[in-house]
Amino acid sequence: MPKIAIKPATLAALKAQYISELSNVNYYLALALWSEKQNLNGFAGWFKKQSGEESLHAAKIAEHLIDRGELPEVGAIPAAKIDFNSLIEVAKYTQTIEGGTTEKIHAAYQTAVSEGDLPAQLFLQWYITEQVEEEAWTDELVERVSGATCAGGLGELDRHIERYLGGE
Ligand SMILES: [Fe+2]
Ligand SMILES: [Fe+2]
Repeated sequence: MPKIAIKPATLAALKAQYISELSNVNYYLALALWSEKQNLNGFAGWFKKQSGEESLHAAKIAEHLIDRGELPEVGAIPAAKIDFNSLIEVAKYTQTIEGGTTEKIHAAYQTAVSEGDLPAQLFLQWYITEQVEEEAWTDELVERVSGATCAGGLGELDRHIERYLGGE
């Protein structure tokens, strides 16, 4: 059965996005480890969950490329930032990660549009929607962490997240 040939710039963009999603796996893993060291187990759980989602984002791209007869490359992944001084710094960093991801996804989509690659356009629509959710939670995180200023506020927020993840 013939493959629906992917267009060259779209292929390059999706291959790069695959590496980018794999990088996100480690970025969130580092945030989980940082949180664990601060005894913020709720936040650690939240970031582990995000890390797992990033690995699914990567896997979906790999599947799309393979379905179209291409082999994704598992290229070099940058070292994850881990030297944070505060939880608010961590929260703001998640906005940086997701803001950057949104830009890349939008650019990949524009490339697929300009090359007339219809399957890639439809495929990337899922990511465009996903990024709206991702940016929403990072904004909420910054807001909530900024708001937790009173003594014990962060610990309370951390337990709240822990209960939330536990399904309570
Ligand atoms: Fe992602
Ligand atoms: Fe994400």
